[in-house]
Amino acid sequence: MWPHLGRKIFVANWKMNGSLAFAEAYGTFLYEQRATIPQGACAIVCPPAPYLKAFCDAIQGVAFLGIQNIAAASKGAFTGEISANMAKDIGCCYGLVGHSERRHLYRESDAVVLEKMRRITEAGLAPILCVGETEEQREGGRMEEALYQQLCHVSSLGCIPGLIVAYEPVWAIGTGKTPTRANIQKACRVIHDILEAQEMHDVPFLYGGSVTAANAQDFLSLKEVQGVLVGGASVKADEFLAIIQHLDKIS
Ligand code: PGA
Repeated sequence: MWPHLGRKIFVANWKMNGSLAFAEAYGTFLYEQRATIPQGACAIVCPPAPYLKAFCDAIQGVAFLGIQNIAAASKGAFTGEISANMAKDIGCCYGLVGHSERRHLYRESDAVVLEKMRRITEAGLAPILCVGETEEQREGGRMEEALYQQLCHVSSLGCIPGLIVAYEPVWAIGTGKTPTRANIQKACRVIHDILEAQEMHDVPFLYGGSVTAANAQDFLSLKEVQGVLVGGASVKADEFLAIIQHLDKIS
């Protein structure tokens, strides 16, 4: 039974930000504020790997841990890589995969993304698979095609326990631009159709891309949206908490 089932999901992706002191202070802050976190919220925090353990100790179970990236291989001579089993060992329950920064800056192909997802699943972690179209694909009316390409082989892995899909249009990441609510609903329909065709049902759908405390409610109030993936705004503990607290304002 995954902790996120039946709850709204709030993922913090710090990317390559923070320090040991920051990770400890962030974890301690959320722990101290635990009474203000709505019951129906499942917070998942993805600090940089070197700080996972310190964050885990500070947070004392108030949020779940995710790793930002794992190796496509399970072990061996891969200098600098971290395996999914290692992430599991230090307390991670979730693994981000397919993030646009990995796809574009590190040229991770859909095949690599699938291999990483296989490793995440084998280790007993739940994958948070990020998908989304580029600006060029959006302008060319190729959003569906982009999502199809990123998702059409997912069922080749068989059953993927705990799978979460985050729709993150590349042009919305770190730019302050966001899609309309209608765009998000459309992306959700497209994604569900692609997954349903592969017999994958009830996969939670998150929105990510320039989510802040000021706009989170717009996304969270959509019935299709089971949660948000927050980058820049999650690097402030009080703003991430404020985003989670929006859950109490949604009827
Ligand atoms: P952002 O990043 O919230 O800073 O746009 C989102 C993400 O990269 O997952």
